[in-house]
Amino acid sequence: MPIKFPFTKSKKQPQSQPLGLDYNHLPQHVAIIMDGNGRWAKNRGMPRIAGHKEGMSVVKRIVRYASDAGVKVLTLYAFSTENWKRPKNEVDFLMKLPVDFLNTYLPELIERNVQVRTIGDFGVLPSHTQKAVQEAMEKTKHNDGLILNFALNYGSRFEMVHAVKQIASKVKDGELETSDIDEELFSSELYTSELIEPDLLIRTSGEQRLSNFLLWQLAYAEFWFTEVYWPDFNESHFEKALYDFQNRKRRYGGV
Ligand code: FPP
Repeated sequence: MPIKFPFTKSKKQPQSQPLGLDYNHLPQHVAIIMDGNGRWAKNRGMPRIAGHKEGMSVVKRIVRYASDAGVKVLTLYAFSTENWKRPKNEVDFLMKLPVDFLNTYLPELIERNVQVRTIGDFGVLPSHTQKAVQEAMEKTKHNDGLILNFALNYGSRFEMVHAVKQIASKVKDGELETSDIDEELFSSELYTSELIEPDLLIRTSGEQRLSNFLLWQLAYAEFWFTEVYWPDFNESHFEKALYDFQNRKRRYGGV
């Protein structure tokens, strides 16, 4: 049964369709671990931040593609709770990237009917990062096209512990019974509570691990890995990932 895309407004579809993608059977939610920026830069004798800068322009291209194709949600791992361990100049740069990205592309995102969201521990981000993202979320909150979801200061274990604490305090206050706790209730306390679960996880750069990304939400997702570093990732790679997804058989534990 083809999946329907009620949110898709754009009539434009990507130009080349050499793989014969079935636009009625796309993953609805694609999550991406954009890895390899540092190695890409190092290979060119450039500072690591040059890789992140190049990575930002790939974000723009993949957002355009996903929005044209009719993907509903694109979640991008832009900064993890572990990334604070990096040198200060790199952390500062990574915190500035969403600001630069939104300063440059927010008008286009609005034009494309994209809704900007975030997941993660938002309140401890630098104020300029919070301000730019909050403004983008405010200006796009009524858009019903692609949901562009930035994982910023996101860590799945932190998210789950936070959810457990929320539930425990509700039980303590008598708002909930222990017997009310089930998978649905737990999911409702996660940052992703309003989103459908990812169908497809992409990780670039040859690493094959989750790095504390959406551990609960990816339970039934298909995984797609490529050796390509994120700054070299392009529309064709993305299309291949979508195509391969369409040729997977998802059984959800059944037969
Ligand atoms: C991992 O590569 C990448 C990151 C920690 C940052 C990802 C950020 C971007 C791609 C730009 C985000 C853009 C916006 C608009 C927020 P790495 O640095 O760990 O690479 P390495 O493993 O080769 O060192």
